[in-house]
Amino acid sequence: MPTATIASLLVLVSPELVATRQYLLNLMPAQTKPLMESVGYSLGVSGKMVRPAMALLTAKALQETRFSHQAPLADEMEAVLPEKSIALSAVAEMIHLATLLHDDVLDDADLRRGQATTRFQFGNKLSILSGDWLLARASQTLAEIGNLRIVRIFSDVLAYLCDGEALQNEAAYSLEATTWDYYNRKTFGKTASLFAATMESVGVLHGCDEPVVQALRQYGESFGVAFQLIDDLLDYTQSSETLGKPALSDLKQGLANAPILLALESDSLSLAERTALKGSIEALFQLCNPALAEETTDVLSRQEALCVAIQTAVLKANAVEDTQKLADTYLQQAEKSLAVLPEHPAKEVLKALLAFNQTRQT
Ligand code: FPP
Ligand code: MG
Repeated sequence: MPTATIASLLVLVSPELVATRQYLLNLMPAQTKPLMESVGYSLGVSGKMVRPAMALLTAKALQETRFSHQAPLADEMEAVLPEKSIALSAVAEMIHLATLLHDDVLDDADLRRGQATTRFQFGNKLSILSGDWLLARASQTLAEIGNLRIVRIFSDVLAYLCDGEALQNEAAYSLEATTWDYYNRKTFGKTASLFAATMESVGVLHGCDEPVVQALRQYGESFGVAFQLIDDLLDYTQSSETLGKPALSDLKQGLANAPILLALESDSLSLAERTALKGSIEALFQLCNPALAEETTDVLSRQEALCVAIQTAVLKANAVEDTQKLADTYLQQAEKSLAVLPEHPAKEVLKALLAFNQTRQT
């Protein structure tokens, strides 16, 4: 299902999603005008809101069924659950947005979601400060939600996000360092951990039994790993226009992601082709590494030629299909985890989100 239809997929929680967006837009103004403008700009470039949607769908199913795996809650607590769920979904989006504001500085990115990045528009300093400010607001919101376990879950996630990004930074431009063990740890840290934390927190907020909380966490984690795998393959299959950011950017940033790891193991390539692919990646990493290379016209055209050779080999190796299959195994795990939830239309939408993830083009 293309991204354009995600709004129709999420119609069940559209009032809540509107409330989450409003919550974000109503955030206390920053003390200085430049920071306010920069934060306002970042909030204005809306993404898919997948994390809030996931949280709100789960919250809806739990609020409207109050099934046997939930501890009875005091009436006052029950009454504030919808409001707290919106605040929680806003926390997930604020943290996500903060990571992107920092990530675009780390990656020198000019374009995201088809628009100029905050760092391009306002400079690196304001992009970092805007991310910091959103983290501060997320912390305040967590304090207002008032559940210590949820505070702990999101504190842990901030550390996982930093660890994931640091791991990626350490392995960049080194094919040798890019093992599956590294890939899995990095993917959990920078992508899956926030999905997992969001879902776990919804379970905790609604007083679910521990096995239910853990199953919800597992749904988020498996969805998150699949989300990263699909992101990885889109880099090889979509144009920059569709992606809203430059295609093949992972490669140019020295990242050998899942399609590369799978292509290097693929039986669809001969040994000579796999060796040539490895050589092309190493040569590209050498040319793209800012610590080693110069950006002359000649270097740029050699980079482009190597990217084309690598992309051709990845496609010939069926590594895009293999990445999709690997993502499918995680999506199936995620679907199994949903079995803990009571029957409710929102549960069906959580399943449909898995299919959306599989077929999205951005
Ligand atoms: C996008 O990756 C980046 C992330 C998912 C996480 C970035 C994490 C950090 C910068 C560290 C922690 C930051 C905070 C605020 C806790 P990408 O560059 O592969 O994807 P892209 O192509 O969308 O930029
Ligand atoms: Mg990036």
